[in-house]
Formats: sequence, structure tokens, C-alpha cells
Amino acid sequence: MIYADYNGSAPLSPPVKEYLLKRLEKGPFANPNAIHHLGAKTLMGMENARAVCAKVLGADYDQVIFNSGATEGISTVFHSVLGCDKNTKKTIIISGIEHSAIINTANYYASEKGYNVKVLPVTKDGVVELETLKKWIAEEKSNIAMVSIMAANNETGVIQPYKEINDLCKSNNIPFLCDTTQFIGKTRFNFKESNFDYAVCSGHKLGAMTGTGILLVKDATTLKPLIIGGGQEKGHRGGTQNYLGNETLAVALTAIDSVLNNLNALAEKRLEFEAKMKKAFPNVVIIGEKAPRLASTTYISYPGIHGQAVQIELESQDIFVTTSSACSDNMPVTSKVLRAMGVEDDVGRGVVRISLCLNSPLEYYDQLADALTKAYTKLTKVKSF
Ligand SMILES: Cc1ncc(COP(=O)(O)O)c(C=O)c1O
Repeated sequence: MIYADYNGSAPLSPPVKEYLLKRLEKGPFANPNAIHHLGAKTLMGMENARAVCAKVLGADYDQVIFNSGATEGISTVFHSVLGCDKNTKKTIIISGIEHSAIINTANYYASEKGYNVKVLPVTKDGVVELETLKKWIAEEKSNIAMVSIMAANNETGVIQPYKEINDLCKSNNIPFLCDTTQFIGKTRFNFKESNFDYAVCSGHKLGAMTGTGILLVKDATTLKPLIIGGGQEKGHRGGTQNYLGNETLAVALTAIDSVLNNLNALAEKRLEFEAKMKKAFPNVVIIGEKAPRLASTTYISYPGIHGQAVQIELESQDIFVTTSSACSDNMPVTSKVLRAMGVEDDVGRGVVRISLCLNSPLEYYDQLADALTKAYTKLTKVKSF
């Protein structure tokens, strides 16, 4: 079996499984906010996990806020930056390839709070247009409340010019949220070096437990809690902490940190795989091919062959891929990310996304090439559209 949907969700990483089995046996299980000994021990375990996450992510200990995942982190940032009714700056800038967790949140502030959402265009390779951002900031910088652009796209794996975007925001005093959900865990990342105001991640994309996540915040005093409750997480997120889940974040991030050296080999093998597919099937299109991309993602299309047909063929060979992102998977249409890139429908409907992890055996790409070759050979005989 090859699981190739890590951008959708990663299975629990082996060290996390091992950790949990021992941890479930040994305990402690208590409310980390309780004052008895077991509470203190539980708290110590969770705070130790926070220190480990901070170290691996290049952040300070108090810049790590545990939560339920990227969606919550994103909502918390929007609430913190825009939630004040007296805000006189009324423009939010996002891009046309953001995840719906960003798009729908920005649109909520537009419809409910009178903000104006400007959507940055992207090039045909899926990179946001920096020159347009520069122009918009020059035109109305005193009215821009925040900028929210992702570091790497979930469908294409295309890496965005986040450094330049952050610099532009910094030099114009504009809060910047970088959606690093697909970036953290798939390549090198250091929060302090990035100098972002806010970054987010989800445990289930990293091999930690689902329902866990981290909001990284440069200055925690800028946060307003979405969930008030009993003042947990230093008042930034109410509710008894998911201490066990938070511990798995530390284990998963440490495991990823130890395999970062695999990046180059994986990137090379991925390119070899893509070249092999293009040679065998000259019609094949690799989405975002000319842009910098995550080493573990390939978004490949055979125009005229439906992506879902390819997915089913691969599944019959025990290989699990998706046609786009989990959210738009059920719709046999060109995804909004691809439409933003100006991808034609015959290409857009033909895509499958292959997403592995840093630890995936390189031979997977040979097996994927064989399986995809079989699928395309069969399906070209019965073109879908
Ligand atoms: C780029 C990006 N941002 C945000 C999210 C939302 O993450 P979650 O559903 O784990 O909260 C995802 C999930 O796929 C994503 O890929």
C-alpha cells in the first residue's frame, strides 16, 4: 500500500504511535490545571512538549499557543487583528489560492463587519503576483488591516514568496498571517527567522493526533481569545488543554526534524518521477512545474482523462491519492486554485495530487510511476471527456 495523501492528512507517525502506547499505559491522566501532584505532573509534561515544539519551530516558549489546528489558529488571528469594532483600516488582502479556512474567514469579515477583501492574482505557475501586492500597498497602505497569504499551497505544493511578502508588510506596518499549514513539517521552517507576525499548523498534517495544532505568534499580547473559558493557555484559549494531543505534537515535530536531511533526495527523485511520466506521456502536465515546490508534492494531469478515474485505477493498485484538496474532491470540476492559475478545464479535471512525506521511501516514486503508467495506458483507450 502507498498512502500518498499527506497534504490531506498524515497517518500517526511511528514515534507518535510508540509514544502513545507507552504514555497510555503509564499516565499521568489529570487536569493539567489541577493543583494536586498528578495535575502538576501532567502540566509539566505538556509544558515540556511546548518547549520542544518551540525549539523545533524556532520560536520562544511563550510564542507557542496550543489549539485544535490551523483553522482555529486562522480564526483566532482574524479575530485578534480585526475583531475590534473601532478598527479604521478596512482592507484585507488574501490571494486567489488560499485555503477555504482563509477565504471563508475573510469573507465573513467582509459580510459581517464591513471589511473589503482584495484577492491577489497568481501567475500561471501558481505564485502570487508580488508586483500587484506592492502596488496595492503603495496605493492604500493606511487602509490595509492585514495580509494573509500561504507559504505553500495545499494542492500544487507551490512555495510562495513569503519572505518578500513579509518584508513588504513589515516595512508598511501591516500585520501578516502566513498560512504555514502545508509548509511546517514538509520543509525547513524557523519562526523567528521568518519574522512572521502569525503562523499556523495542524497536528494531523504532521503525524501528530488529529484535533491538535499550534498558533505561532510573534507578540502574544496582540491575541484576543476566540474561546474565553477559564483562562487556559495564559488566557489565549480557554478550555482544558488537550495535553495528550499536545505532547504528540512535540514527538511528531521532533521526528520530522530528524529527517529534514532527506529533502534533497526526495526532491530529486520527485523530479525524476515527473520527467519519466512526461517522457512516457508527452501530454502530461505537471502543475506549477516551473515554480519552487514542496519536495513531496506532485500535481499531475493527463488532459482528457478524468482525475477521479485515475484515482480509482490507482486505488485498485492499493495506492491512495486525491484529485485535488479533500474539500473539493467530491466535485468533478476544476478546483478554484487551478482556476485562479488560469488552468484550462481539460487539464483541471484531469489532475491527481500525489503527496508524500519527508520520510517516504524513494522507491515509492518508482512504484507510483509504474502504477500511473498502467492507469494512463488503460484510460487513454477510453478517454473520459
Ligand atoms: C493550506 C491549508 N490551510 C489551512 C488548512 C486547514 O487545516 P485544518 O483543517 O487542519 O484546520 C488546510 C487543510 O487542508 C490547508 O491545507
